[in-house]
Amino acid sequence: MLRIGMLTSGGDCQALNATMRGVVKTVINNATESVEILGFTNGYQGLIWGNYKKLGWKSLSGILTRGGTILGTSRTPFKELDVPLEDGTNKVERMKATYKDLELDCLVVLGGNGSTKTANRLAQEGLNVIALPKTIDNDTWGTDLTFGFHSALEIATKCIDDIHTTASSHGRVFVVEIMGHKVGWIPLYAGVAGGADVILLPEIPYDLEKVCEAVNRRTEGKSGFAIVVVAEGAISQEDAALSKKEYKAKVEARTTPSVAYELAKDIERETGAEVRVAIPGHTQRGGAPCPYDRVFATQVGVEAGKAILAGEYGFMVADRGRQIVRVPLQDVAGKLKTVSPNSQLVQEAKALGISFGD
Ligand code: F6P
Repeated sequence: MLRIGMLTSGGDCQALNATMRGVVKTVINNATESVEILGFTNGYQGLIWGNYKKLGWKSLSGILTRGGTILGTSRTPFKELDVPLEDGTNKVERMKATYKDLELDCLVVLGGNGSTKTANRLAQEGLNVIALPKTIDNDTWGTDLTFGFHSALEIATKCIDDIHTTASSHGRVFVVEIMGHKVGWIPLYAGVAGGADVILLPEIPYDLEKVCEAVNRRTEGKSGFAIVVVAEGAISQEDAALSKKEYKAKVEARTTPSVAYELAKDIERETGAEVRVAIPGHTQRGGAPCPYDRVFATQVGVEAGKAILAGEYGFMVADRGRQIVRVPLQDVAGKLKTVSPNSQLVQEAKALGISFGD
């Protein structure tokens, strides 16, 4: 009997179900012994408290195209792993106990950075773990791609496309806020794909004067409108020079709901233009996975399934140069893949005349 535990952890995204389907179908189709799949509910919380449901053909049928996660998800921050639970027990010890009590052969974790760090901790504690790279943010180190990214990118790009028509009709400036607190992969790609005039990323602190210059250049030109794409975590050069504590206090003192509104206020004040804000928000994480994500998620799932059948663990499945590979968990854990200001796409965007406000 082969007994596999599986969980989805952290913020959800498209193609989580497609990935699980890939793992389970591969194992069930090719195993020479009987297989039991236990899906822990609500991320690591299910593993901590021993809450799970059995996954078979029936539960996996029809989920290739379904968004969200059939298991539910939650955040269990890595830095709080050793903070005791209310009953005084340790979360890691509880997870190990559940794994042992249920006589699992391995645990498959579909998660982003924090979840993969926890997966590595569990591997170090002796569990057989495989991590699969989930997140719309595409910020997982060690893989060119994470599943969810392309689906979110399509939604973010459609939002910018749709804003274009109304912006041009009214000759307005639009600030479109795209997800990405620490990294700007979605705003960068969506900004280029949607033909933005300005793209502001957390990795490239901006100078408001330069942003306004770019907006003026565009609004004073033939088109008379401008699209500014701003990442949730975009930061001005002035704010980037503050200490973490000072910046936190400044953000908390804001009277606007988010960076897009703050920036809109600044641009309106400095340029006199009529500025509007558009925020697709969590729609970027919602709905069905795009075809590219369905295929990639399936490939990732099949690779995990093959490894389970061979009894090979301790890695994250990754995409490197369009090849599906395995990267040791300890090489990945705790590292963030950010956009380099010198990257090819940033340079190409600049060559096109897109301003990054730097
Ligand atoms: O999953 C990553 C992410 O989508 C970020 O881009 C975003 O800032 C964050 O999650 C918001 O998630 P939540 O509202 O679930 O905390």
